[in-house]
Amino acid sequence: MTEKKRILTGDRPTGKLHIGHLVGSIQNRVELQDKYECIFIIADLHMLTTKPARGDIIAMRENLRHMVLDYLACGIDPEKSVIYLQSAVPATYELNLFFENMVSVNRLSGLPSLKDMARNAHIDPENVPFGLLGYPVLQSADILLPRAHYVPVGKDNAAHVEVTRDIARRFNQCYGDVFPMPEAMMSPVPTLVGTDGKGKMSKSAGNCIFLSDDAKTVVKKVRGMYTDPKRVHADVPGTVEGNPVFDYHDIFNKDKDEVLDLKERYRKGAVGDVEVKDKLAAALNLFLEPIRERRLSFENEKGLVEEILYRGTNKMNEIAAETMKAVHQAMGVAGTWKKISRVARERQNAV
Ligand code: TRP
Repeated sequence: MTEKKRILTGDRPTGKLHIGHLVGSIQNRVELQDKYECIFIIADLHMLTTKPARGDIIAMRENLRHMVLDYLACGIDPEKSVIYLQSAVPATYELNLFFENMVSVNRLSGLPSLKDMARNAHIDPENVPFGLLGYPVLQSADILLPRAHYVPVGKDNAAHVEVTRDIARRFNQCYGDVFPMPEAMMSPVPTLVGTDGKGKMSKSAGNCIFLSDDAKTVVKKVRGMYTDPKRVHADVPGTVEGNPVFDYHDIFNKDKDEVLDLKERYRKGAVGDVEVKDKLAAALNLFLEPIRERRLSFENEKGLVEEILYRGTNKMNEIAAETMKAVHQAMGVAGTWKKISRVARERQNAV
């Protein structure tokens, strides 16, 4: 049997996951679990680059719990995959520091993602924290610590995998072959538009349907969705293409005949928005119900999330120890201290 290739990917613990996460990345991860050895990182250290306050850190605990519950409800299986907490793997901090010497400030400051992250976090672009500049370096440490082969990421993170490859290449040039060259695995699904139709679904935009929303909330959110604004009456012909209500129908409604019928009548101006939306809400609720049920049952198991994270993080620390041994050997850093300690002990024993 050939060994499975390793995958590393994950999220910052921003809180409850929404249906955009599900179609954009989580469903894909669930499938990858059988073919690859998957490691999922909860990147709480990355959170510090934009939210470093103690209050933010405490609030993160609850967010992280919600995120893991959503993972489990969607089918991420801790028997198959590792889920771990970044801040509890000390090798991450160490490798991050070594990697800081493998990339130039110029390379990092030219990344479009830096400006995006600063803008989203309301950080003055002239006063970017050192840590935010280093975001992709820390991400490189995450990816290379388990010596991952593939990194499933969205568009916005693809450039960070490029930085990771640069760092791996440079490190291997400097010290010898330690790291495999990781490759980005682009998500097969385009990003889901938010309920407001303005941009991608995101918590900060307030245009989300969460996996844990109850049926009533889903109906309410769908009723308020952006749709063809030209349709002031049910008898005005409408546009289906690029209409978020129909985008969602295409993705979530399993009754394809119903979707076809609704589209036809919508184009002719022979259906009311309420019917189109209520049918979407019903389809969404049908889709979400099993996820909600699983989530609730996991939620009721006291200590389950903690145990999963505990086991995953311990496993990750074992993996990290192997890599760091190779890193120390290649760099020669551990040898300096080893030699000092040996000579010191010899002297102590002599006196
Ligand atoms: N940057 C990712 C995000 O946008 C989170 C993350 C941190 C990550 N380390 C990673 C993703 C390593 C993939 C691989 O939330």
